[in-house]
Amino acid sequence: MNFDFETPPDRRATDSQKWQKYAGRDVLPMWVADMDFRSPPALIEALHRRVDHGIFGYARPVKSTVDAVVDALAQRYGWRVEPSWLVWLPGLVVGLNVTTQAFAAPGDEVLTLTPIYPPFMSAPKNSGRVSVQVPLVLRPAAGPAPASWEIDWDALERAVTPRTKLFFLCNPHNPVARVWRRDELTRLAEFCLRHSLILCSDEIHCDLILDSAQTHVATATLSPEIAARTITLMAPSKTYNVPGLGTSLAIIPDPMRRAQFVRATAGIVAEVTALGFTACEAAYRDCEPWRQALLATLRGNRDFLVDFVAHELPGVTIDAPIEATYLAWINVSALNLADPVAHFEKHGVGLSDGAFFGVPKGQYVRINFGCTRATLAEALRRMKSALGSR
Ligand SMILES: Cc1ncc(COP(=O)(O)O)c(C=O)c1O
Repeated sequence: MNFDFETPPDRRATDSQKWQKYAGRDVLPMWVADMDFRSPPALIEALHRRVDHGIFGYARPVKSTVDAVVDALAQRYGWRVEPSWLVWLPGLVVGLNVTTQAFAAPGDEVLTLTPIYPPFMSAPKNSGRVSVQVPLVLRPAAGPAPASWEIDWDALERAVTPRTKLFFLCNPHNPVARVWRRDELTRLAEFCLRHSLILCSDEIHCDLILDSAQTHVATATLSPEIAARTITLMAPSKTYNVPGLGTSLAIIPDPMRRAQFVRATAGIVAEVTALGFTACEAAYRDCEPWRQALLATLRGNRDFLVDFVAHELPGVTIDAPIEATYLAWINVSALNLADPVAHFEKHGVGLSDGAFFGVPKGQYVRINFGCTRATLAEALRRMKSALGSR
């Protein structure tokens, strides 16, 4: 079956957060992480059927929804999840905040690796906990091995104090697009076990592995010991482009920790909606051909982007391979711009500021390449002309 990843949808006059930011201006929004693609046809059809039912009372997941999640995790990642381990959430950012409040007391510390998706740093601060950030290091290319963002294990050890309670992992990692290898995850798991840390593994991008030589390793599959300390956060939202339907999951094998997590949600976390459950079930069960076609499109976009940056954007670099996600971390430090995002906006491209991800302003921007090739090409053409007028 052919899917359409070439016709740009017109989102300008819609409820889209991404497009509203530049309403009335000729700026292509390449920032917030949703894609300018329609969701899979099978998912849209499932929603139509649910809407036709016409009743939208308080919802609970039906067995077929739970089965769709459990089966997908078993098939894709060899992870045998019990239905009772699932805690439904309206979003992963909610999950990060709930995890913080459930497993760290005010003043306790939450470790993470930067640059990182901003809520990893703000969730602890939101409730009087402390975010402790350990920068990733860029290992230079050596022979056939390309450059790579790596964990600074010594710095990580040094960052631990008696108040460290939690480790927030992004697997795969937004924004550097790393797929963590089994040996790295095993070492991280040992680190968490040794320091009695709860490991919160945000795996929202796990179905978007672009490097065909790599596979996603679900952190909780490493060992029963690490599963017992892991809160895994997942969602169909990134892959099937349904973040506006607010449907996510925490997967918590340990019953005591699950109860602790659920207690922290009581009365303040909204229920997942009927349409969200419908979309989730269809996504995980009926949309695998679409996901494969999406991955082919994203791989093509990634290659186009990498090639364009290398040949057409002097002074701009992508430091390491983009192994996953539809987000690229772009080094603009050689341009010496005080505010690169403002500069590119002036030339019609809306990027995310690297400073939000925990690096100094002026060094990096993030681009979202989850769009048609034509849109990506136009954005890059605008970036090229922006370079000419500094
Ligand atoms: C790593 C990561 N976690 C969570 C989210 C957002 O999750 P949600 O919209 O479910 O709160 C994003 C969105 O970009 C993300 O990249």
